[in-house]
Amino acid sequence: MTGFGNHFATEALPGALPPGANSPQRPPYGLYAEQLSGTAFTMARSENRRSWLYRRRPSAMHPPYRLAFDPAPNRTLPAGPNRLRWDPRPLPETPTNFHDSVMPIVWNGDPEAHSGVTVATWACTKSMGNQAFFSADGEMLLIPEAGGLLVTTEMGRFTLDPLEIAVIPRGLRYQVALTGSHSRGYLVENHGAPFRLPDLGPIGSNGLANPRDFEAPAAWFEDCDEPYEIVQKFGNRLWTTTLDHSPFDVVAWHGNLAPLKYDLRKFNTLGSISFDHPDPSIFTVLTSPSDMPGRANADFVIFPPRWLVAEDTFRPPWFHRNLMSEAMGLITGAYDAKAGGFAPGGISLHNMMSAHGPDVASWRAATDAVLAPHKIDNTMAFMVESCWPYRVTDQAMAAVQPGYDDVWAGFPAAERD
Ligand SMILES: [Fe+2]
Repeated sequence: MTGFGNHFATEALPGALPPGANSPQRPPYGLYAEQLSGTAFTMARSENRRSWLYRRRPSAMHPPYRLAFDPAPNRTLPAGPNRLRWDPRPLPETPTNFHDSVMPIVWNGDPEAHSGVTVATWACTKSMGNQAFFSADGEMLLIPEAGGLLVTTEMGRFTLDPLEIAVIPRGLRYQVALTGSHSRGYLVENHGAPFRLPDLGPIGSNGLANPRDFEAPAAWFEDCDEPYEIVQKFGNRLWTTTLDHSPFDVVAWHGNLAPLKYDLRKFNTLGSISFDHPDPSIFTVLTSPSDMPGRANADFVIFPPRWLVAEDTFRPPWFHRNLMSEAMGLITGAYDAKAGGFAPGGISLHNMMSAHGPDVASWRAATDAVLAPHKIDNTMAFMVESCWPYRVTDQAMAAVQPGYDDVWAGFPAAERD
């Protein structure tokens, strides 16, 4: 099943989807009907997201949650103007699962105010057991950088490999298993309006990420009456409870709120065929709007392989100071504005109005280059751009790469006349 925002319908047992009413008096197989809303009921139809789940037990059947983790000691630092960078995380020395390995790096906004975004990383070496995770604080964007995953959600399961991404709706329970020995990647939690495809304006009706390339899973359930721990993120704190059965018991579902998977290699990359290059918004895959039109709570932007053909143009990203704040990651290859120090799995942060751009080596190479058509290949960087400045977690600040400012030291002064 493919399509962004489509209304999907899927059943793991024949006839499990009710043919008429969403919540009939007696759903097939004695299933329980449950609506999962991704937006307020009264949002415009074009914005409205909801699905109906038909499950073996209602989600309401759970004991109280207890507070398991309070992140306050990790979120004491104010937002700051300094440019920061992090090396890729090493894999843990002791076996660690996906959920336990998640480490928030930068964050902004407030989940209780439905604003902001958190960029975290994971580095794990074992599969989650009888455990499921969900966030009431936002939808989850999974960006694996190394190693494959099997993601099981209430609405079905799918594999996820580097250069693919998945968006998991707010509130949907999921579990992550490894398909190899380890996995590392970036977890972006969007606390604001759900991600959507950007409007295309003069580009027209095709281009960038095409709706049909987003895949939703088929319904899948397990008949498991063993204890299952549920970990919920709520108000930036972690809460846990234990069910006496698997939460992955949805036999059928329909609606337009669904986990979606997308292969970044399918992005239709557009760019200049005369001079200059467009703002990086031309590479927006998904956007979470804020209350101000055009100013995103979070944009997910990629820098994919592409041809550079512009004449009389400094082709790498130019020097800039922006209103928006930028957290960047690298999935594979190298990023064309940095000659070194930004490795796959690493992160960089350039907060609002902080001056940045190419390092000296990249500037010199681009200034001296013969401007023949050239393909940047075997690369995939991404940016989570937000109108809210990012704060760095205490844990991440302790691991920051020293001397990042030095990449912009040593530019020669322009000639006096
Ligand atoms: Fe930038």
